[in-house]
Amino acid sequence: MKKSLMRLGVSPANVKRAAIAMYEAEINAVIHGGGGVAVVSVSPTEVKIEIIDQGPGIPDIDQAMVAGFSTAPDTAREMGFGAGMGLPNIKKNVDSLNIDSKPAVGTTVTMTVHFN
Ligand SMILES: Nc1ncnc2c1ncn2[C@@H]1O[C@H](COP(=O)(O)OP(=O)(O)OP(=O)(O)O)[C@@H](O)[C@H]1O
Ligand SMILES: [Mg+2]
Repeated sequence: MKKSLMRLGVSPANVKRAAIAMYEAEINAVIHGGGGVAVVSVSPTEVKIEIIDQGPGIPDIDQAMVAGFSTAPDTAREMGFGAGMGLPNIKKNVDSLNIDSKPAVGTTVTMTVHFN
């Protein structure tokens, strides 16, 4: 995605914001959601990134958004994940963030970065 956006002439600052957000959501899908799918769509004015998993879902999204909240297992913590900073980091970098999550069905994280 990074290379494609650069090639399209998106500014490095906006590419960076999109890349950070996508990275955090992807890692979450892998660590908490058992893996998933990424769908990226680009228009002249923005990039929309959807990360979709069929994992356990997020029971309390407001709680999940709180900096420092994490349910990461020890195996993930051993690799340096689990600070509870991924979702706050996404929020900080994107222009819109929507989390659609249902218990036992999965989670879809939709993020948009405007090319300002
Ligand atoms: N795709 C997901 N499926 C299920 N739960 C999730 C998902 N994404 C986030 N969560 C829940 O939200 C919590 C907070 O996520 P966040 O990314 O902020 O922190 P983290 O992944 O635990 O740690 P870090 O991102 O700092 O390594 C997670 O610990 C988990 O409980
Ligand atoms: Mg995370």
